[in-house]
Amino acid sequence: FEQASNAKILIKHASELVTCAGQAPKKGASMNDLNIIPDGALLAENGIITWAGATAELPAIDETQYTVIDAGGRCVLPGFVDSHTHFVFGGYRPEEFFWRLNGTPYLEILSRGGGILSTVQATRAAAAAELKQSAAKRLAEMLSMGVTTVEGKSGYGLDCDTELRQLSVMGELNQEQPVEIVPTFLGAHAVPPDYKGKTDEYVEYIINQVLPAVTKQGIAEFCDVFCEQGVFSIDQSRKLLQAAQNLGMKAKLHADEIVALGGAELAGELKAVSADHLLQATDAGIAALAENGVVATVLPATAFCLRESYARARTMIDSGVPVALATDFNPGSCFTQSIPMVIALAAIQLKMTAAEIVTALTCNGAAAVGRQDKIGSLERGKQADIIILDYPSHLFLVYNAGMNIVDKVIKKGQVVFS
Ligand code: NIG
Ligand code: FE
Repeated sequence: FEQASNAKILIKHASELVTCAGQAPKKGASMNDLNIIPDGALLAENGIITWAGATAELPAIDETQYTVIDAGGRCVLPGFVDSHTHFVFGGYRPEEFFWRLNGTPYLEILSRGGGILSTVQATRAAAAAELKQSAAKRLAEMLSMGVTTVEGKSGYGLDCDTELRQLSVMGELNQEQPVEIVPTFLGAHAVPPDYKGKTDEYVEYIINQVLPAVTKQGIAEFCDVFCEQGVFSIDQSRKLLQAAQNLGMKAKLHADEIVALGGAELAGELKAVSADHLLQATDAGIAALAENGVVATVLPATAFCLRESYARARTMIDSGVPVALATDFNPGSCFTQSIPMVIALAAIQLKMTAAEIVTALTCNGAAAVGRQDKIGSLERGKQADIIILDYPSHLFLVYNAGMNIVDKVIKKGQVVFS
């Protein structure tokens, strides 16, 4: 997606210009500090913010050269970064939702060959065009809720061809629609049927055949692994992520989701960019994240849908861990891309403040995808990725529980949803 050349935009009279400036996860940065400018204004050119400040102090410009938005009475904030999703997949699994409600555990469905493996079957059978069409629709829904950047994972192929197909669909969509896509290779999402009982061999296959193909094409920035009891062990996860890091990829982990295996500790040891889920992370695991500056990506909608206990986001924040919030949108454990639902759960179940929630969805989300220098805050030099709300304050994101209050979305200086 390229912004129209020379596009210039002016937004003025934002009742709150929530900048999140200077806030990208630094030691000692408070997630509560949003750096709000009352009656704020912002200028952008060629997709990049050139000025942000009080409307009264706007530099003298020729407004006829600009797209002018008067945000009078409305809150303006950075675009949301949904830093953990699995949005490219074939088929659906509605029946599993009800099996789980009737008491069958998530991991048991997987061990019977359902769950992720059921989506693998459907994704292997789907042509690229089909995967692309459904994924594009999902991205449009995300955009309407203020998501301007999304991380997307492969992991429903578990073979070289299908993993590459998922990643190349993301690459194409990145060019063709406004939501910026950060691609993650998740070849170690489950053990495919042909490797049943041979997890070590499957890890070798990923390391020796798939990872090199992915890096050769340069179509993934991150490597992720489902580090979980009965899926990939700590040692298998370490081996895979180290191989990926040696090939220049950055590391992420699905860590301590259902069982406290020590995934958070491993994330610290590997200096992963993020550790995600963390429902069962121990005190030692949380300390390892804090010490190594690993972003904790907390996914409360998954805990909600699986009826598991929530991650200890309060303890993490109070221990100095940068916390990001994301949807985990996927066809199994969490079939929702609802940012409003994530916000409601974060406030009510995770006990995060409204300011912490905004930080978690903007600059900490940007850090979780390694883009904190480009996105996540409204300050000079950053991309003009912006949300305008229907209401005067960011507090309404929490207060108007479960509702989408996004009025307009701007990507790289262009209005892309209104
Ligand atoms: O983040 N836990 C592993 N992976 C996904 C679920 C994928 C699926 O169920 O299809 C998750 O929850
Ligand atoms: Fe996930």
